[in-house]
Amino acid sequence: MIIAVDGPAASGKGTIARALAGHYGLPHLDTGLLYRAVAFTVRRLELDPTREADAVAACDFDDLTLADPALRDDDVGQLASIVSAHPLVRASLLQRQRRFANQQGGAVLDGRDIGTVIAPDADAKLFVKATPQIRARRRHTELQSRGDTTSFDRVLADIRVRDARDSGRDAAPLIMASDAALLDTTFLSIEESIRRATVLVDAAL
Ligand code: C5P
Repeated sequence: MIIAVDGPAASGKGTIARALAGHYGLPHLDTGLLYRAVAFTVRRLELDPTREADAVAACDFDDLTLADPALRDDDVGQLASIVSAHPLVRASLLQRQRRFANQQGGAVLDGRDIGTVIAPDADAKLFVKATPQIRARRRHTELQSRGDTTSFDRVLADIRVRDARDSGRDAAPLIMASDAALLDTTFLSIEESIRRATVLVDAAL
């Protein structure tokens, strides 16, 4: 059983995907972390994120990088949306994601192109969305709890830039798969979002 959860930054897809994985007893992969690890490595090696060859060289990161808490920082997310637009970066991370998706027993993956590219035959597909303002508010609260003083306006502006980049790129842009179920979390609590996600997945299975 493969469950694909896609959506824009801070839509709640990661929280929902983790909860679904717990509910159905499946392993979970946050695919954004892979792109964040590439971005982080580009920065560490002082490479140029806009050069495809540089970004591809950074795809060879070691697994320890994936555990670095700094991957969650907002500037790493921004850099990730730059390196993830390179087709060769996406190609280089594709097999790893497909292998995870197709492991025995199934898996839950969340990202931008799981239902469209990584696992087009997934048993259940969710597309999670929320308004940019709500997503910025959630991200801002999360950053504050980590002691990060970035302003709300800055967080909102960053979300808009990242949305535009992720939706506007040629390689695997952020779009809803035609057979995905839409879950708008704008007015929903985390608990209610998870409850509805479970109902939608059950209906798809
Ligand atoms: O989901 P997260 O915010 O961690 O993703 C960081 C960036 O990685 C996104 O803005 C997007 O550009 C890229 N990404 C992607 N495809 C995925 C997951 C993430 O292009 N499947």
